[in-house]
Amino acid sequence: MSDVQSTGGIVCRSYAKINLYLDVLRKRDDGFHQLETIFQTVSLFDELICHVHPDELLLDIEGAELPTGEDNLIVRAAHALQVTSGIRLGARFTLTKNIPVAAGLAGGSGNAAAALCALNRLWGLDYPDAQLETIAAELGSDVPYCLYGGTKAGIGRGEQILELESLPETWLVLVHPAIPVSTPTIFGHPELVKSGRAIGDSGYSAAFADAISSCANGNMRTVLFNALETAAFAAYPEIAACKKALSSAGCDGVLMSGSGPTVFGLCASETHAHEVAAQVSGFRTSVVRTVDTGVELREL
Ligand code: C5P
Repeated sequence: MSDVQSTGGIVCRSYAKINLYLDVLRKRDDGFHQLETIFQTVSLFDELICHVHPDELLLDIEGAELPTGEDNLIVRAAHALQVTSGIRLGARFTLTKNIPVAAGLAGGSGNAAAALCALNRLWGLDYPDAQLETIAAELGSDVPYCLYGGTKAGIGRGEQILELESLPETWLVLVHPAIPVSTPTIFGHPELVKSGRAIGDSGYSAAFADAISSCANGNMRTVLFNALETAAFAAYPEIAACKKALSSAGCDGVLMSGSGPTVFGLCASETHAHEVAAQVSGFRTSVVRTVDTGVELREL
């Protein structure tokens, strides 16, 4: 801890995630939906610089108009860690946003995961992963996954993480329609499709076991499925148009990520990805590759 404090702080990268597979099994009594999902991080990232402050939690944001108080998941993450640990120290954060907001890429969840990892070091807490995961799960369903990144399965609300073999590195194009999509709106939409699949002794359905096997065989194309597409396309027809544009541009495998609106397309190479992106005019695009990490920390 003293080394870190003497050098002044930590800079973190928090990577965007996509969902390669997302099934909604049923609505639960707590209002959340029982999910089976496969997450993957990609090389688009936000940067979070974090310093110790004697008592306050301060946040500056560049690159997006976002709340900087308790409504921001970074501040909530820091506060949760203060409450759990009883520590009296604060922190000063500077966030540079590159990941589109409310886009289905878990940008905010990744920022919260980065704050937890950075403060765990800066405040000298040394909490093990399992303890950070518990705090992360209270902040949001995607936050535990964002602590780790890579290829992982999520069950329950999405907050229970299962290890999977890493998929081979793949190039993708992300297309970001300029419509902020609210996750509760999609989960509450009358056209939400629920599979009703039964959970087996393994803790997940037979269909999810198949998706996991496809992943283990390195076959990303055959994994692709997102039950939220029907509701999202009904609410925002532009998302379906985006998917069509990516298919027409030559992607073999195109899917909406999470509750949208970002749509991604699988590409054969980096060159192919740039060719595809050049063809999808009229939308913001990002050329990315898959990565094996959720948060990267570097001491300043
Ligand atoms: O957990 P998180 O804060 O990301 O969830 C945001 C909203 O998305 C929830 O309030 C709920 O409306 C919806 N949601 C859901 N079932 C899940 C995850 C999210 O209904 N498994």
